[in-house]
Amino acid sequence: VAVHILNGPNLNLLGQREPAIYGSLTLADIETRLRDKAATLGRNAGVAVDLAFAQTNIEGELVTLVQRAGLEGAGVILNAGAYTHTSIALRDAIAGAGALVVEVHLSNVHAREQFRHHSMIAAVAHGVISGFGATGYELALEAIVPLLQGRQQ
Ligand code: DQA
Repeated sequence: VAVHILNGPNLNLLGQREPAIYGSLTLADIETRLRDKAATLGRNAGVAVDLAFAQTNIEGELVTLVQRAGLEGAGVILNAGAYTHTSIALRDAIAGAGALVVEVHLSNVHAREQFRHHSMIAAVAHGVISGFGATGYELALEAIVPLLQGRQQ
């Protein structure tokens, strides 16, 4: 199974960006953790779990990446950053390409400012993980692998 881990605006700054909210791990650290997790999950499930990582600050690029993953049948772990709260285009990309998406946020968006409480993409995501820091990406991977396996059968 293939899983694309897509990160939106400002997540390239992880590690130095408001560490009290987003933690001290960098995106590269999260990638390392996920590759370990994919190997373990793959071993246990008897399936190859192929990961692809991308980060962009540009909304349209994120739209293209989501479309591509969806059309290829890859699962998507998506932290869309602030575009979560604003992007109808991203929502339409998920729906249009039929992408299987787990929406992830490092912080608990519901415990923060009002403008972070609404997600444009949650209604077209399979589920949402918010507030568990970098662990949220691992939880998302654990959740999405059996869903992708189920789709293959
Ligand atoms: C975020 C939460 C968003 O509200 C914010 O704009 C981000 C990061 C998170 O991972 O907690 O950039 O998606």
